[in-house]
Amino acid sequence: MDLQLPPGLPKLRVRGAWKFFGPGTAGSAALRDVHLDIAHNEFVTLVGASGCGKSTLLRALAGLEPHSAGDMLCDGAPIEGPGPQRAMVFQHYSLYPWLTVIENIKFCRRLQFHARGRTSADVEAASGRADALLRLMGLCHVENAYPGQLSGGMQQRVAIARALMGRPQILLMDEPFGALDAQTREVMHDLILHVHRLERSTIVFVTHDVEEAIYLGQRVVLMAPRPGRIDTVYPVPLPDARTQDMKLAPEFLALKREVLARIRATSGMQTDFELLEKLSHAASTDLAPEPGDFSS
Ligand SMILES: Nc1ncnc2c1ncn2[C@@H]1O[C@H](COP(=O)(O)OP(=O)(O)OP(=O)(O)O)[C@@H](O)[C@H]1O
Ligand SMILES: [Mg+2]
Repeated sequence: MDLQLPPGLPKLRVRGAWKFFGPGTAGSAALRDVHLDIAHNEFVTLVGASGCGKSTLLRALAGLEPHSAGDMLCDGAPIEGPGPQRAMVFQHYSLYPWLTVIENIKFCRRLQFHARGRTSADVEAASGRADALLRLMGLCHVENAYPGQLSGGMQQRVAIARALMGRPQILLMDEPFGALDAQTREVMHDLILHVHRLERSTIVFVTHDVEEAIYLGQRVVLMAPRPGRIDTVYPVPLPDARTQDMKLAPEFLALKREVLARIRATSGMQTDFELLEKLSHAASTDLAPEPGDFSS
């Protein structure tokens, strides 16, 4: 299978990548022979049934988990660990509860400055970026609040601002809006599209929500489980400047139906309704009172 390769050197390249957990190649592969190229400034979304390897692929791209075989490249160089050009955002915001919003945003940056012995002018420039990110994320009014005083949506905005603080070229996001309500999610969608345009970052975004995947992605990559693999890559037939009303466009709805049907077909999770009926029948006859149970 080849995947409509973007022209030029891809920002991220995955070539014949495998991942086994545990020793050797025993057991099933969490990733089997994955090929994927992602262009600079592309927004790619990953969907697929639970356990199909989405997080495993993302963590390998982040350099947090080594793959077992094949190549994973960033700008043509092998990914051998985490790097400042790649930032990860998780579903659970993992902010430092004892630091304020602004301190959280600046925290990792401060460690980097400390490690590299930068000058105070660099620190000042970083403060300017932190302030700009606070404004971009609409967080100015809670700058000095602690994470525990914020809503889920606000905490996730802090986490994204913190990830953006080091000017990463690549954002790897693992179900970042999974814990948010529907309205907050819509706001976050437009915010992340804005960030994508503004920062010209490359984004790989994992989600269970097919509508979210189509609304955000320029391509939707569908993975299938046992073994974890890429099943289908769908180009999204929408202009890059997305608006919420596009979710009602016939091509949006048709793609959504197609992707959902394919996830269902590849999930391998079939409910045996006949067995379920037998079980509930057995349960109800087990519980049914025997004749004479209530006689005194
Ligand atoms: N640390 C680990 N040790 C052993 N097996 C693991 C580990 N992490 C993941 N796996 C296995 O690898 C496979 C892929 O898991 P992964 O978490 O990547 O799936 P996913 O697509 O992100 O699922 P979900 O949608 O539920 O988050 C699963 O079978 C899982 O059990
Ligand atoms: Mg996952």
